[in-house]
Amino acid sequence: MGISENARCKGCVDFFTTDSSKNAGNTLCINEYFWTVWRKKGAQDLCIGFSEVPLFIERTIQMNENTKQLLAMFEESLAKADSSESLEQLRVEFLGKKGHIAALMSQLKSVPNEEKKAFGQAVNEVKQEIEKKLADAHADIVKKEEQKLIDSAEDYDVTLPMDIDMGSYHPITVIQREVEEIFRTMGFTIEDFSEIVDDFNCFEALNIPKHHPARDMQDTYYLSSGQLLKTHTSAAQNSIMKKYGAPLRAVFPGRCFRNESTDACHENTFFQMEGIMIDEDISISNLIYFMKTMLSEVFGQDVNVRLRPGFFPFVEPGFELDIQCLICGGDGCPSCKNSGWLELCPCGMIHPNVLNYGGIDTEKYTGFAFGLGLTRLAMMKYGIKDIRVLNSGNLKSLSQFIGK
Ligand code: DAH
Repeated sequence: MGISENARCKGCVDFFTTDSSKNAGNTLCINEYFWTVWRKKGAQDLCIGFSEVPLFIERTIQMNENTKQLLAMFEESLAKADSSESLEQLRVEFLGKKGHIAALMSQLKSVPNEEKKAFGQAVNEVKQEIEKKLADAHADIVKKEEQKLIDSAEDYDVTLPMDIDMGSYHPITVIQREVEEIFRTMGFTIEDFSEIVDDFNCFEALNIPKHHPARDMQDTYYLSSGQLLKTHTSAAQNSIMKKYGAPLRAVFPGRCFRNESTDACHENTFFQMEGIMIDEDISISNLIYFMKTMLSEVFGQDVNVRLRPGFFPFVEPGFELDIQCLICGGDGCPSCKNSGWLELCPCGMIHPNVLNYGGIDTEKYTGFAFGLGLTRLAMMKYGIKDIRVLNSGNLKSLSQFIGK
């Protein structure tokens, strides 16, 4: 082995050795060489005729002793650790910010530059070994702890009756699905629509221009973008007409919002189901037939309906559809305020302006529309007296109406 003093190491030391016996022609810096040989043979095999080398070797041997001792100390403690907590303590003691490895690493600044790399590597190796041993021990202990838990679990009788409390659908979901199914069998498609809409869809396309007084009843929540939370499911009419054209039968349920103070009969968030049917020769008789059939199905008995005039800018003529009170059969009772009738579903023949906005040929087609109050229907069907229960999220109250 000789030392070539004119070659210079890029990374660490100034001087090089050439291991002529094994790696003829290869140059290794002292650190690299030392570590290579040290691991293979031990320090005594190094014979480098350079004045600083003995010191270097001494320091390296010392460091090696330190790391060996540290590892031995760790293994001794590890053998005694028998819980996740004691492992964690060990981790902090050895790998923590103020632990042994950190202390060893803090010596790095006093190590000569050319030895820093080897020193760092040696400490890192110990650190990795400790980390690995800790991880293995942790996996082992977790397994043992789990087994202990299983072993200590009480035996139980699998034949005992169990509590199968699995929650329930919301009353509005139940009624919505029921009504959807009824309309599906009558050839209607079920459509979904967004809750955030624009002024055009919610009002303009429904023949409610800006500043029309009909807007007053539908104050809602506006977004900074100028969009708004839809005040009624009618807001989907225009898009659905444009999507399918005529002839068309569709129902579209949805959540609606209005800026209302709440009480037993009013909510700022409620559900409706809108329906439209557009075809040649559609008349009020078709409207009455579909409404009567659907309501008889929902209530499971033949219901009588009547129409009263009602004003909605998007239908002409417009109606309020009432059903005969199912509780008193029309004689008058507190539920129907002694009138014998319950207001259920505003409806009417679609206004030609609305059809035009939707791109429907008004010379050829007419249609009807209705806005069924799903929330109100659920309240009637399940005898819910306070509308606020529906949005309360109170599972006890909600599940009692529909059973499980
Ligand atoms: N969109 C109306 C509202 O929420 C209800 C309504 C009335 C819908 C008449 C209709 C209709 O389709 O024809 O107040």
